[in-house]
Amino acid sequence: MTPMSPHKSQSAQIVPENLKTVAKYPDLSDSMSIRFDGKVAVVTGGATGIGAATARKLCGLGASVAILDRNIEAAQETVDALLNAGHTASFHRCDVALEADVKNAMDAVLQRYGTLNVLVSNAGIQRYGDVMSTSVGIWDETFDVHVKGCFYSTKYAIPAMLASGGGAIVIVASVQSLTAVANSAAYVAAKHAVLGITRSIALDFARKNIRANCVCPGSIDTPMLRWSADRTASPEKVIEGCSRMHPLGRIGRPEEVANAIVFLASDWASFITGTSLVVDGGLLVPTGGMGFQDSGIGTGGAE
Ligand SMILES: NC(=O)c1ccc[n+]([C@@H]2O[C@H](COP(=O)([O-])OP(=O)(O)OC[C@H]3O[C@@H](n4cnc5c(N)ncnc54)[C@H](O)[C@@H]3O)[C@@H](O)[C@H]2O)c1
Repeated sequence: MTPMSPHKSQSAQIVPENLKTVAKYPDLSDSMSIRFDGKVAVVTGGATGIGAATARKLCGLGASVAILDRNIEAAQETVDALLNAGHTASFHRCDVALEADVKNAMDAVLQRYGTLNVLVSNAGIQRYGDVMSTSVGIWDETFDVHVKGCFYSTKYAIPAMLASGGGAIVIVASVQSLTAVANSAAYVAAKHAVLGITRSIALDFARKNIRANCVCPGSIDTPMLRWSADRTASPEKVIEGCSRMHPLGRIGRPEEVANAIVFLASDWASFITGTSLVVDGGLLVPTGGMGFQDSGIGTGGAE
């Protein structure tokens, strides 16, 4: 018997003739590591929080990173830190809710780097209210940033990816893409919608060598979470409550979501598309969420 041949040549034998133009196998050798050398990534909402952590991680792994954000000051600070560390990065002012802004920013990225391989659609805002108390303005704002923002970002990134032979899209969704939290109707609905966008792109562009996945974070310590907590009478109590809710006993760090994003964007995830990777410290594991556990059920001892 001959020794095991490298995965690559095995793969070459099983690609059906009619799929040869689309079925691209990455390097599957054991020595492969997650690297993005020579690759260009766009991160929307990369000024702070999860986006900034993702930009740092991608740069650290060799990518050139373009941050699209509307927060000029914070984005410039994040990019300056990346440049000072010797990385290749740039900031493109952009409101993802505006089609022209996204188109112009993507054009500028292409002009600067000549190609686009990775898109992280991450820009987002938090808004509260049930369907009765949510104004049409807040509903539209939430959908404009999350849903249209994701639509525009993917719409204008995909042509550049196709021109470069394919790419990887990671959309930052939420555990609220899969469940609901009280008093968050617009946010919950918008996050469900981006899961739909993820799945649609995964199907529509699979044969064009573009993968699309999303991550679904639980509570992550970012300016957004702090903003939510600060709107309450006892912000620290809210953070504590969030920590208790997660079976791992704490809220997550932006870098822990960035790790999942980078994995999905990399060739390590080469056979993963259309999936939602939950990054929530176990939050969604208990039946009925932690609320059900809080009822006291199951506390009567072992039997
Ligand atoms: N923090 C959490 O607990 C949590 C949990 C689940 C999902 N998320 C999602 O993660 C993503 C990142 O949020 P974060 O927690 O890092 O918060 P964050 O506030 O630190 O980051 C959001 C970024 O998006 C940018 N942004 C907002 N609106 C924009 C617009 N219209 N155009 C361009 N940029 C815009 C902000 O300037 C900021 O840089 C969001 O989509 C959020 O819904 C966060």
